[in-house]
Amino acid sequence: MILALETSCDDTCAAVLTAGGEVAANVISSQGIHDRFGGVVPEIASRHHLELIGDAVDDALARADAELSEVDLIAVTRGPGLVAALLVGLSTAKALAAAYELPLAAVDHLHGHIAASFLEPATLEPPFVSLVASGGHTFLARVDDKGPGYHVLGQTLDDAAGEAFDKGARLLGLGYPGGAALERLARDGDPEAFSFPTAAALRGLDFSFAGLKTSLLYRVRDLGERETERRRADLAASYQRAIVQALAVRAERALASTGLQRLAVGGGVAANGPLRERLGRLGVELGIPPRELCTDNAAMIASAARYVEPLPFPDYLELDVYATGERALAAAAG
Ligand code: KG4
Ligand code: ZN
Repeated sequence: MILALETSCDDTCAAVLTAGGEVAANVISSQGIHDRFGGVVPEIASRHHLELIGDAVDDALARADAELSEVDLIAVTRGPGLVAALLVGLSTAKALAAAYELPLAAVDHLHGHIAASFLEPATLEPPFVSLVASGGHTFLARVDDKGPGYHVLGQTLDDAAGEAFDKGARLLGLGYPGGAALERLARDGDPEAFSFPTAAALRGLDFSFAGLKTSLLYRVRDLGERETERRRADLAASYQRAIVQALAVRAERALASTGLQRLAVGGGVAANGPLRERLGRLGVELGIPPRELCTDNAAMIASAARYVEPLPFPDYLELDVYATGERALAAAAG
């Protein structure tokens, strides 16, 4: 049985995975306190992780009807993410593991998003192409096996897709995070009403969303307050279409270049209806986990931990977190 923790951003997560690979508990405590700042404040996230992590662990064990003494392995996200936030999860995991002299599996957050596809009910067997699009990251990877050695094919050069949704939502007067609200607003709009850039000039498999957000900003300025208000749904629908198009075109390119016929999708943006529909039309085997396994969660970290070499007690006590993906990417490339 694996007890996993995930605190890389603003969700305090704990999960229990049984030896049979069943998610016995998947606790996600969304802090909900960053909305008023229009983004996640790292120090506040860290402080709240500290307050919530104990209860999240207790809750996960209670839901799984399990005791800490029955746990065989502690898994935790080591990076990439917010350093102060990651530290709370890693320190807690070390303490729990050390107290029971258990081994510890340090998991790469992005490997976690990929490993969500190794869980029921949307299991996908490698090799496959993985598209992960969330508020913090957007990348395409070739996944040949279940271990952490996935191969990154392309990634965003600036904003993440979810960030593009959030920034667009903000310009249209919606709250944070705004992806779901923008999708709802877009339902009444015409996706062809405005033309927004999809970074089509960018060859290869990297993404860029910064120009898109700027383009919406100028459009809103040009239209003026009243006209923007009148055409909000059209703006949302057209803007959403550009993001979906940018993601789908590159996913399609990745499938073509690898010759693979399977696509796994993860990250919070995978909840987006038009994106799911668009990817569904690619005609390949599609694996999109349920929403609670797509957004940040600890069940995916437990899933990944099964394919990571665990560190025996007390070798992990010196372990540190890492902020950016470079280390993970370098490790993956190596
Ligand atoms: O994976 P996630 O929960 O957290 C991060 O690791 O960032 O992703 C959150 C992101 C936010 O940017 C949010 O606006 C976006 O996913 N999102 C959506 C939808 N639901 C959440 N974007 C588009 N359409 C949605 N329905
Ligand atoms: Zn994430």
